[in-house]
Amino acid sequence: MTRKPLIAGNWKMHGSLADSRALVDALRAGVTAGAPATMLLCPPYVYLPAVNGWLQGSAVAVGAQDIADKPGTGAYTGEVSGQMLREVGCSHVIVGHSERRALYGETDVVVATKFKAAQAAGLVPIACVGETLEQREAAQTRSVVERQVEAIVEAAGVQAFAKAVIAYEPVWAIGTGRTATPEQAQEVHAFIRGMIGKRDATIAAGLSILYGGSVKGANARSLFAMADIDGGLVGGASLVAAEFLEIFRAAA
Ligand code: PGA
Repeated sequence: MTRKPLIAGNWKMHGSLADSRALVDALRAGVTAGAPATMLLCPPYVYLPAVNGWLQGSAVAVGAQDIADKPGTGAYTGEVSGQMLREVGCSHVIVGHSERRALYGETDVVVATKFKAAQAAGLVPIACVGETLEQREAAQTRSVVERQVEAIVEAAGVQAFAKAVIAYEPVWAIGTGRTATPEQAQEVHAFIRGMIGKRDATIAAGLSILYGGSVKGANARSLFAMADIDGGLVGGASLVAAEFLEIFRAAA
């Protein structure tokens, strides 16, 4: 496989500065330069400069959990722009996480705008898509994921996926301990790759598609063994160094 696995930790709104320090120290000790997978840490905004500083000289990358849908600077109280994220060392940013969509009302259009804002600032967006349990049970998984991906393709063009990552995160698997089976995840990953592939086969072949939703050390290997699963977006288990390192090693 030509796609280098990416293991991203989404800390969400967890931990303290001291917790973050301990976690970063333990993780960086477990990741060697030249490892066959990339580790990415996405702490809360306010910890980004500190985490980036602690990771100097390591192979671990830093990303943000969200981004303003506006570029540059401006009168947008509470928002953080892509340029600002770059300044504090971010290479990636998560956009459209299901918690942002469900709890903060982010629509497909907002997510696509954030995706474009990330790329305009030189960040790699990790665009999250995925269906709720209700939607899965109503056999709408494909149509929901298709709508979410299409919104971005329409706004940014398929070429934009040459420098982007997609994360398939079934909402029913996030933080529930209920992981999609490798086969369930693979089916959707292949569907997403096929969607992009219909427009550009080369971009589809190079596109990293991460799985997220209750990834643990114990299930990581079987997920990552699937042909179209290129790593993971990990919430809860990314807060426990030993667990996250086990997931990282499963990809590497
Ligand atoms: P989880 O979260 O690993 O705790 O299920 C994943 C995510 O929300 O990205």
